[in-house]
Amino acid sequence: MATLSVSHLSKHFRIYKKEAGLAGSIRSFFKRTYETSKAVDDISFSIEQGELVGFIGPNGAGKTTTLKCLSGLIYPTSGEINVLGYTPFDRNHEYLRSISLVMGQKSQLWWDLPAMESYLLYKEMYDIPEMHFKKTLDELVTLLDLKEILHVQVRKLSLGQRMKCELVAQLLHSPKILFLDEPTIGLDIVMQQKIRSFVREYNKKYNATIILTSHYMDDVKELCKRIIIINHGRILYDGSLDAVVSKHTQLKKISIIFEKPTTQDELEKRGKILSFDGINATLEVNKDKVAAVTGYILSQYSVIDLTIEEPQIEEIISGIFSSSKV
Ligand SMILES: Nc1ncnc2c1ncn2[C@@H]1O[C@H](COP(=O)(O)OP(=O)(O)OP(=O)(O)O)[C@@H](O)[C@H]1O
Ligand SMILES: [Mg+2]
Repeated sequence: MATLSVSHLSKHFRIYKKEAGLAGSIRSFFKRTYETSKAVDDISFSIEQGELVGFIGPNGAGKTTTLKCLSGLIYPTSGEINVLGYTPFDRNHEYLRSISLVMGQKSQLWWDLPAMESYLLYKEMYDIPEMHFKKTLDELVTLLDLKEILHVQVRKLSLGQRMKCELVAQLLHSPKILFLDEPTIGLDIVMQQKIRSFVREYNKKYNATIILTSHYMDDVKELCKRIIIINHGRILYDGSLDAVVSKHTQLKKISIIFEKPTTQDELEKRGKILSFDGINATLEVNKDKVAAVTGYILSQYSVIDLTIEEPQIEEIISGIFSSSKV
């Protein structure tokens, strides 16, 4: 059986709608109108132990809501979730000790305390044996290079330092399953890379199951073989990242700068014109025709510059978000 399975999960929020203006306020006071927001709308997937899955989608897609359901923070409207044999919203103690939810946007440390003090509190809360606590803390502090800042008040730390402390706090109880909700948000490139390699290490070393959400495609590219794309609360794609990328890299873009103004008649016959102004042209061409079309252009025109581009993962993914098709 899969480590984690989600079946027909939905989470709908009832949002109270207020009419505009004073009259509206008064009307709304007597007759409340509600709208339903389908944050998560009938999604199903399952994840095996040790998998590191990228959960991606635009703002408001339903990612955080799903992770909150998975960690038992909120109650689903309908559907079933089974993680390690537990139903998350039962909030079984053993279950909560096996998982962790790390939110890049929200601190779970006490701001006025140094991180170390928070860790000691977590140790008590999770009943972590002294030996285990010391060993894990040592490992994590070394891995994340944190020694210097453990005793500094959290509010005085930089965003990246705080994020590292945050990760440690959430990993002290050695969870087998991690829900990482934008763990690299707002961090500089170097810090993003550090967190990324830490996540990769943790996944390998403990064979931990990880779901990661991020708006940075580099995180996803470097860490996840499998991605689940969600938008408007529905799953658009669940499968390998490579497959989705190669499917969308069937087309390449050829950009040309001509020496002299030219017409587009002949170019039109060879590919789809994406832009053309007489001197600059961009053509979209099927992968297997690139050589022939390039050869033709170079032999027929005098060309100052010609480049062939593959679509970037960012472009592919945002194309999927907006077309609702994979
Ligand atoms: N407590 C709530 N009450 C009402 N609506 C909510 C609540 N939480 C989330 N929503 C709505 O549910 C939808 C999904 O929100 P969610 O936070 O899951 O998106 P997300 O994919 O995590 O987006 P982002 O990338 O911006 O973090 C949004 O339309 C949001 O407004
Ligand atoms: Mg979110």
